[in-house]
Parts: sequence; structure tokens; C-alpha cells
Amino acid sequence: MDFSTEQKKIIDEIKKLKRAKNAVILVHNYQRPEIYEIADFLGDSLQLCMEAKKTNADIIVFCGVNFMAQSAYILNPGKKVLVPFYDAGCAMADMLKPSDLIELKKKHPKAKVVTYINSSAEIKALSDAVCTSSSAVSVVKGLDGSEIIFVPDKNLANYVAKNVPGKKIIAFDGHCPIHDFLTKEALYEAKKEYGNAKIIAHPESRNEILEIADHITSTSGMIDCAKKDPAKDFLVLTECGMVERLKKEIPNKNFHGVCNLCFDMKKNTLESILKCLKDEKFMVTVPKDVTEQALKAFNKMFELTKNG
Ligand code: 13P
Ligand code: SF4
Repeated sequence: MDFSTEQKKIIDEIKKLKRAKNAVILVHNYQRPEIYEIADFLGDSLQLCMEAKKTNADIIVFCGVNFMAQSAYILNPGKKVLVPFYDAGCAMADMLKPSDLIELKKKHPKAKVVTYINSSAEIKALSDAVCTSSSAVSVVKGLDGSEIIFVPDKNLANYVAKNVPGKKIIAFDGHCPIHDFLTKEALYEAKKEYGNAKIIAHPESRNEILEIADHITSTSGMIDCAKKDPAKDFLVLTECGMVERLKKEIPNKNFHGVCNLCFDMKKNTLESILKCLKDEKFMVTVPKDVTEQALKAFNKMFELTKNG
């Protein structure tokens, strides 16, 4: 990627400042490509959790959306967790309120609760286990109990139900507007142009997409499967930033997006990251009781996926 003189200056300043303050910068795959340049670690939700959990840095700057920064705080509560933009939310996480989950638990008292990481800390605290897109199937399979309340994503719940046929999945009616907007008509339209391309889809996509996809995987999983698959062309169904990420990581293959933009993921900029490091703002915290309960749900995921 070519950077302007101004961008180069900001990148240098960020790098100097993070060394001086012993800060680590964790970056989600959907962030703007210029932000990849200052990342200490770039990855999907599960990988970023693992990094947040093990870091020795004094400050974690989280470039993603708020539930990810909250998760970093829960996993490593002694750290100062900062976000460059104070209200980068997640539309799917906002769909589920604690009262909705309490209601579901009352209706299904025997069911265990598995909560997708794209949710608030309060929801995680009410859950038996957290999962990410790459760990959802293993967590549901591994958790004892034959009835599972799965929140908040109905599409991921459907994907899990298909892959864990022995369990009854009770789904909440939430979705990611960015993924749920992708239809099979749009996919067939793209296939007219790139007929031989393999289809890679995120499991937050609708069932009609997942039924046709060649690979269904998390954002970082997309990089691994595109490397392994001998195909040259791929249709990528997820947030558009992932197309840039794939092109950068695998420059000898072609990636075509059937994608949509997540504006919250694009709120962070090089300028706001520099300001965040300089002013040590905006700080993310989670109340102690919520942190303790949510941490138990995270630890259940690590136990079930052998990611201690
Ligand atoms: P991944 O964990 O696959 O990176 O997904 C995060 C996300 O928000 C997808 O919309
Ligand atoms: Fe949330 Fe969807 Fe954006 Fe991911 S892409 S952060 S699920 S709104």
C-alpha cells in the first residue's frame, strides 16, 4: 500500500509512542487497510481475545468495535484498554438486551446459554459460555446439556444447529445487518461474471448463502482457506474490508467482494489512533461483578476449545 507523506508521519509517531508507553495495538481484520501498518496483531475475534489475554503491555489500544475492547478488558482486567473512537458499536450486539436473555432463560430453564462474542458484557455475564465465529461449533458441541439458547445471531445459530445435529438450538432473532443484507440473488449475479470462483462466506450470512458456499469460516479462517484452496478466484461474502485484507495477504490470487460496509468498523483512523495514544482516551472499563461473571463464560470457551 502507498502512503502519503502525512500518513507516513502519523505512522512513525504512533510507532514511537506505542514503544514509549509500552502499548500494544490489536486490530480487527475489517479495519481500514492503513491501520494494518501499525498493528502489533491483526486477526479475528478469537485471535484478538487470545492476544489481549496474554499481553504484557501496559496499554491495549483496540481497533475494532466496542464489544471487542470490552472483551479485552474482561480477559485482562489490570490493563488500560483504550479505543480511538468512543462509540464504535455493533448493530447485532445492540439487538439483544439483558431483559431479553433473562426472559429466554425463564422460558427454557434447562437450557445452557452460549453467547456470541458480538454482544454486551452484561449479556456475557448471564451466559454459560462465550463463543466466536471460529469456536461456535466446538463450544456448543462441548458444552454439556442437550438444549442450548444461542444468542444473538440467528444465522450463526442456524449454522451451529446444522453442525451439531444432536442438540436443540433455541435462537434469538438477531442478525448482523451487514451480512444479512447479502442475498443469493447478489451472489448469482456475481457468479455470472466470475463463474469458476470459489465462494467464501462468513457464518453470519443467511442460510441461502451458506448452502451454496464452498467455505464457511471466520475472517482469519478466510485467509487460511484461500491459501490452501488451489483456486485462483474467490467470491468473498462478508464485510468489504476483508477483501482488502485477503488481497494484501495473498497477492497472487483474485478476490471479488459480494460485500457490505460496516461503518462502525471504519470509524477508527490513523489520526484518531495517534490522539488515543497521546491523550490515553477513550478508556474502556467493565464493572467488577460483570467482569467476573463474563470471564467465567470466556474461560468455558477456552476450556472447550483447548485454548487456555
Ligand atoms: P470474526 O470473529 O470472524 O473476525 O467476526 C467478527 C465480526 O464482527 C464479523 O462481523
Ligand atoms: Fe457487528 Fe456486523 Fe459490524 Fe461485525 S460486521 S461488527 S457483526 S455490525
